Amino acid sequence: MQSQMTAQEIRRKFKEFFESKKHAILPSVSIVTSDEKGVTDATLFNSAGMQPLIPYLLGKKHPSGTRVASVQKCLRTVDIDDVGDNTHATFFEMLGNWSFGDYFKKEAIEWSFEFLTSKESGLGLDPRRLYVTVFEGDDNAPRDDESFEIWKNIFAQAGVAGERIYFMSAEDNWWSAGDNGPCGPDTEMFYDLTGTLTDGMSKTDFLVENKSQQIVEIWNDVFMEYEKRDGKVVGKLSQRNVDTGAGLERLSMVMQNTRDFFEIDLFADLMKLAGKIASENKSQKIITDHVRTSIFIIGDGVVPSNTDRGYVLRRLLRRAIFHTDKKDISPEVVHDFVASVAETYIQTYPEIQNKVETIEKTINEEVEKFKKIFPQGLKILATFKKEISGKDAFHLSSVMGFPIEMTIDFARENNMSVNIGEFLEEQKNHQNLSRAGAEQKFKGGLASTDEMSVRLHTATHLLHQALHDVLGEHVEQKGSNITPERLRFDFSHTQKMTDEEKTKVEDIVNEKISAKIPVNKVVLPKAQAEKTGARHLFGEKYGDEVSIYFIGDELENAYSKEFCGGPHVQNTSELGHFKIIKEEAVSAGVRRIKAII
Ligand code: SER
Repeated sequence: MQSQMTAQEIRRKFKEFFESKKHAILPSVSIVTSDEKGVTDATLFNSAGMQPLIPYLLGKKHPSGTRVASVQKCLRTVDIDDVGDNTHATFFEMLGNWSFGDYFKKEAIEWSFEFLTSKESGLGLDPRRLYVTVFEGDDNAPRDDESFEIWKNIFAQAGVAGERIYFMSAEDNWWSAGDNGPCGPDTEMFYDLTGTLTDGMSKTDFLVENKSQQIVEIWNDVFMEYEKRDGKVVGKLSQRNVDTGAGLERLSMVMQNTRDFFEIDLFADLMKLAGKIASENKSQKIITDHVRTSIFIIGDGVVPSNTDRGYVLRRLLRRAIFHTDKKDISPEVVHDFVASVAETYIQTYPEIQNKVETIEKTINEEVEKFKKIFPQGLKILATFKKEISGKDAFHLSSVMGFPIEMTIDFARENNMSVNIGEFLEEQKNHQNLSRAGAEQKFKGGLASTDEMSVRLHTATHLLHQALHDVLGEHVEQKGSNITPERLRFDFSHTQKMTDEEKTKVEDIVNEKISAKIPVNKVVLPKAQAEKTGARHLFGEKYGDEVSIYFIGDELENAYSKEFCGGPHVQNTSELGHFKIIKEEAVSAGVRRIKAII
């Protein structure tokens, strides 16, 4: 049985090992990516140690030479819904070593093996518990026989018998950071957590053991010699690189003989703290993970908001608060969490210690905000009957920032159901949409217009027309303001709207949404545009050519027509359930509606 080793010792050993192999040790850079390319969760934050090094993998000269290694703060939110089990976390540290056109497969694999198994200079893991995969080849690149042979020799020399090297497809053994950039086949190393699977096994058995987490991946060596554009390999890079990655938390799990991530030294104190505010083990893990990640994100300068990095942070914090028994985290507990993370990482990431006050303040403010929106969310939920559609659940989560768990809990308590399949489908569409939207943003397209605001913008047009239908033609737009959370529409009308009128307006808008009506645009000379009867603001200056957005198949009989610069959704079916949350006076004769979808 191997001796226990702390995470700090693993970091130190790793750095020393690669220093001895002539690598320059680089400090971790911020968890926030350094360029404006942040288009998805995975690129808003560094999600692998190689990410800040991409220019050098593409051929730029690194000031520290051709061999570098680092322990990098990373964040991945793709598996956020799995956090709470034994092996998932959103924040993690990645150990990695790189060759920029220097050494290649032989050294990379031999050093990975040496570091993992050497009792003197490495972790001293049992080589009989190691299993590896290599690339089986496809249209992009041939089968990686070279890596196979290297591994075969290594195991033979170490006197380790049994079948333990498996060819796998690109799905498992090809690595690239997104659709563009350096990429290549990889070889992955797995470790048997049980200590009993030492004799080798067939590929089928290996896949079974891996799936049930008896054997877990601990290291990845990528041989980056190809370049991808728009998802296709377009050729070879000017140099052959090595990019390796090993998760510190995973290695700590192995070195500390535990099958549960959250039992490693880095989490011990946090789990105790989480135990004070949540009774369920799964909730404790979620709180531990999300609060720790939030502390690192805030430590690197992000503030909660409704877009991009700020939204990732907000979502993590809200999920954490929701998982507490009382839907609250007191400033004292926040203080203890921050102090604990600062202390645990004082040598590695002193920026946390330097920013404890800002971090605490930011979290406390978010807790207060959550406590305000929480009852509002319950109110909205209370308006649904029997089934909460996936769309509604998704909109609650994306617009109001309510964790899906809250909607599910609510439904359970009230004998209602939530259409989870539909919710997940919505979420997937949303991710694709925001990816597409963000890519557009990156190309300099719709600068500050996020997808939620675009939807609310179309909903505003529907509301405007519905108000005319219900209240009369005197209704005139006096103002409009849209944030990703809600729309705000001011209009001329002298009385408070009755409940009946509000319901009528909501029903009309929802009916238009269910009718799946296309949203179209025409550009016309101003005089002609005015003749169409499209609504526009009197006294407002419009150019010689005006664009009109109309909701309907044809301009003539469209339900709504307005002079407008856009952007809008393509079809009303993209909107969620429309709901007026407030109707009030703003000044004499002007009313204000706030609504959500
Ligand atoms: N980039 C690879 C990974 O993230 C190796 O560092 O697994």
